[in-house]
Amino acid sequence: MFITFEGIEGTGKTTQIQNIKKYFESRGKEVFLTMEPGGSRVGRELRKMLLHVDNKDLTPLTELFLYLADRAQHVAQVIRPELEAGKVVLCDRFADSTIVYQGYGRGLDTTMLQQLNEAAVAGLWPDLTIILDIDPEVGLKRATDRNIEEGKAMDEGRFEAEHISFHKRIREGYLTWAALNRDRIRVADASSSPNDVFERIKTIIEARFFATG
Ligand SMILES: Nc1ncnc2c1ncn2[C@@H]1O[C@H](COP(=O)(O)OP(=O)(O)O)[C@@H](O)[C@H]1O
Ligand SMILES: [Mg+2]
Repeated sequence: MFITFEGIEGTGKTTQIQNIKKYFESRGKEVFLTMEPGGSRVGRELRKMLLHVDNKDLTPLTELFLYLADRAQHVAQVIRPELEAGKVVLCDRFADSTIVYQGYGRGLDTTMLQQLNEAAVAGLWPDLTIILDIDPEVGLKRATDRNIEEGKAMDEGRFEAEHISFHKRIREGYLTWAALNRDRIRVADASSSPNDVFERIKTIIEARFFATG
């Protein structure tokens, strides 16, 4: 079982993925938590380049290829082996981030992006993708407060430093992309309390994997 979590900065992906890990463990499953960028050894080097605020001069194509390199390594070295070992793999961002950020955000052609994603994931698409949805002003406030609190405003703040109009395009992009991929992608409102959001995600997971009758 391979589940990915998507959404703009500060929607609560990292918070909720921990809750979902505990939820699966309480059902007796072994869970492997991972993320993009940075889910592999080489990927952690790529993550530093991709998220540091100083790297505002990355061109859209350079950014794209770094993300794809991260993904190709992550799938081959980490995700596929963990799935083959029988674990539930929960991933914080994956291929849909490329479509939305590099496509709807930076303006690259989404058909090209989808083809490159196909190459990078080599057939390994998620069984389920959950998009956490929130007003970008709210998400951005959560994310920038968190970055300051954790002392990573510089190291991990490149996207938080983007203009609000960029974040609005990303949010709309996620919703558009979700509507085009209804078989795999579900959207959950992430504006209420962490516990409410967790309940929504749990409902989606139960309907997808544990529905009876
Ligand atoms: N439902 C929520 N309501 C209020 N604050 C939240 C909620 N979910 C997460 N947070 C807080 O907002 C910040 C961003 O959450 P995080 O899980 O890091 O988001 P993401 O990984 O999507 O960027 C964190 O400080 C987190 O504690
Ligand atoms: Mg996060």
